[in-house]
Amino acid sequence: MTINFATPSITNKEINNVTKVLNSGWLTTGSQTKNLESLINQYIGSEFCLCLNSCTSALHLALICAGIKAGDEVITTPFTFVSTINTILYLRAKPVFVDIKPQDFVIDEDKIESKITKKTKAILPVHYAGFSANLDKLSLLCKKYNLTLIEDAAHAFGSKYRNRFIGRSSRFCCFSFYPTKNITTGEGGALVTNDENVYKKALSLSLHGINKGNAWKRYSTTGSWKYDVDKLGFKYNMTDLQATLGIAQLGRINILKRRRDIIYQLYKEGLSEIKGIEILSGNAYSFPFRHLFVIKIKSKKIKRDDFIEIMKKKNIVCSVHFIPVYKFTLYKELLVKNSEFPNCETAYKDCLSLPFNAVMGIKETWQVIKVIKNIFKSKN
Ligand SMILES: Cc1ncc(COP(=O)(O)O)c(C=O)c1O
Repeated sequence: MTINFATPSITNKEINNVTKVLNSGWLTTGSQTKNLESLINQYIGSEFCLCLNSCTSALHLALICAGIKAGDEVITTPFTFVSTINTILYLRAKPVFVDIKPQDFVIDEDKIESKITKKTKAILPVHYAGFSANLDKLSLLCKKYNLTLIEDAAHAFGSKYRNRFIGRSSRFCCFSFYPTKNITTGEGGALVTNDENVYKKALSLSLHGINKGNAWKRYSTTGSWKYDVDKLGFKYNMTDLQATLGIAQLGRINILKRRRDIIYQLYKEGLSEIKGIEILSGNAYSFPFRHLFVIKIKSKKIKRDDFIEIMKKKNIVCSVHFIPVYKFTLYKELLVKNSEFPNCETAYKDCLSLPFNAVMGIKETWQVIKVIKNIFKSKN
């Protein structure tokens, strides 16, 4: 039997919710989407939440609402998924990379200041695997240089920075509900903000730039067919089918978190004695909703790529988060020098993510641990 990397946890609750919406006569953005937005606000303690069709859309809208324009510079990490960078490039702005820290693979806040220029307009950290960026230090830098903080929290729904949920007091915080994420809506994401104007603008931009807040109601008795379009928008709205899935997931979030915590603890106990493996430790100010279980292969006897291949032959699917974005052909024109990012290079050489999700059983987790122990035994 294959041990998958990230299977979503779907119960009768999710299936019943989706069936109800399918039978309701209203499939796209509607009451379920608005309901999910309120529930997210209640859970995180945030003021405004806009559910969208992806985190990529949330990042794009956040950058627009932050006023990022062609030629502006946005400081970010190269150790991320391409969405973070692409959304900057959509606006013809320039991503400026800063290395990560080896303990949490999050942007190194102490290396940012030297990269700030007159063109810098924003800092865009990525909370990695549930570990938070150092939000206090980043906020101070933003204040000092009049920059906007935009958080890529694709990995961090339900995680805390110190004692507050990520997104709680953010102006721009973007979550992903992709199927591998902590909770899923199939595909989906959300922009969470404490600024009503940001919410209103992003809402309009998410539906073609239609300037009525309730554009999604235009086919119902409580809405109106009359509307105006006053800006060039996109088609980024979430559907009620997606939202109702998210409502079921959010209702089970404590169970989903607990399961991940149990698997995390088992892995930690089972793997910590193996010489040649280091578990990504995180930082003191994060209270993560654990999204990935990341290890580093620190052995002369086996390389990361060979390790992944052996695991695959044993029907265990691993992954790598991330390939530093400057290695992709598309970004070659940014002329980034690998040597500027030693921690990123080492992380990429050594790291991998083990199967980790809320449906894994204890038996499967032990199976993964056993296979890893055997790999290292046979190499000694
Ligand atoms: C760090 C990071 N940012 C952004 C995204 C994009 O999320 P989505 O697929 O919801 O657009 C991902 C997706 O995996 C991600 O890992």
